[in-house]
Amino acid sequence: MKQFYLSKRLINRFLGICVILVACLAAVLWKHPEFHEQSGVVPVESEPVEIAVNEPIQPIPLHLKLDAGKVALGEKLFDDPHLSHNNTIACVTCHNFKTGGVDRLNFSRGMNGALTSVNTLTVFNSGFNFKLNWDGSAETLEEQVDKAIHNSKDLNANWAEVVSKLKKYPEYVKLFGQLYTDGITEDSIKDAIATFELSLYTPNSRFDKFLRGNMAALSYKEKEGYHIFKDYGCASCHQGVNVGGNLFQKFGVMGDYFADRGKITKADLGRFNVTGNPQDKYVFKVPSLRNITLTAPYFHDGSAKTLPEAIAVMAKYQLGRQLSPEEIDLIVKFLTTLTGEYKGSPL
Ligand code: HEC
Ligand code: HEC
Repeated sequence: MKQFYLSKRLINRFLGICVILVACLAAVLWKHPEFHEQSGVVPVESEPVEIAVNEPIQPIPLHLKLDAGKVALGEKLFDDPHLSHNNTIACVTCHNFKTGGVDRLNFSRGMNGALTSVNTLTVFNSGFNFKLNWDGSAETLEEQVDKAIHNSKDLNANWAEVVSKLKKYPEYVKLFGQLYTDGITEDSIKDAIATFELSLYTPNSRFDKFLRGNMAALSYKEKEGYHIFKDYGCASCHQGVNVGGNLFQKFGVMGDYFADRGKITKADLGRFNVTGNPQDKYVFKVPSLRNITLTAPYFHDGSAKTLPEAIAVMAKYQLGRQLSPEEIDLIVKFLTTLTGEYKGSPL
């Protein structure tokens, strides 16, 4: 009798553990993306679940709180050729919002047709980058504005000149006066443009919807592409909110890109031009891959005309791998899902 009682208790305990295990398994499966796909359960988009925490990429915030007056003033300045020495070039000349925040040229034409020494970076999402420019030569957006104003290949101007020109326009005097106690100064101009640049974020890409729990936001092939991107190690460099923009890395980790390309320029030395440290030769800020399908040609030297070409170069020189055309195509499909929205409309 006692023996029977004992084994009954054991059986009950065993059953209890089984129930817990089954519950745990169900919970794990429920969280697993493939399970959702197979079972056809699609989380409703307007009710995002929590953001995926184990992914190397994080979504762009849906809303940023910015001073609307400064954003509007910064936009006006961004469009204004008075910021250039001979009133011919504005920031927007090279950073066109209709074409991904760039001009899609290998090198851009600044004042008097001078060619920039590197390919134009997009201004979209630049506020999420840890430093600005290919070589990280600007620590902040304000410092970057300063460089663009002075650079002979960009606006070729200086602050005294720009401030005195803007002071001739009553509208600027009024707008600056409303927002800044000192009115039109070098600092207030930089602050307004930098605030506007912070407003150039592009949330709500299909990939971000996926990260927010909408498993149906990506097709099966786009997910495959993302898995390759992670498995092969692209995400070890292109990661974070901007899928890049938070590390420096050498261009040519697994092969000598520059020897193979030939004709090395000063700009090819990258971060070395900022630090003077020999270890920083050919080192660049890992660029963001957000909206990447819109910003060809690629690389600081504008050498890759297409995204598949850029991916093949990356695989070869950064990872020592040769990808099949199918793998490249899947990565392109994934990268296409990184295109977001600006002011509520798809870019
Ligand atoms: C002649 C074309 C040209 C003009 C005009 C121009 N830029 Fe640029 N911009 C570039 C190029 C080229 C780069 C990359 C520079 C580098 O890496 O050294 C760049 C880089 C940037 C970046 C860095 C992006 C990042 O994430 O690292 C920002 C921000 C930017 N520009 C803003 C501006 C602003 C603001 C103005 C106007 C005051 C301006 N640009 C005018 C060509 C231009
Ligand atoms: C070891 C770090 C590293 C790895 C791994 C890496 N990248 Fe890059 N990626 C970079 C750097 C650095 C650059 C900038 C190169 C330059 O132009 O100077 C870059 C540039 C790019 C660009 C061009 C961006 C632009 O705006 O011009 C693309 C596209 C890209 N990478 C995709 C990939 C893909 C896809 C993979 C995986 C197959 C990958 N990268 C792996 C560091 C890396």
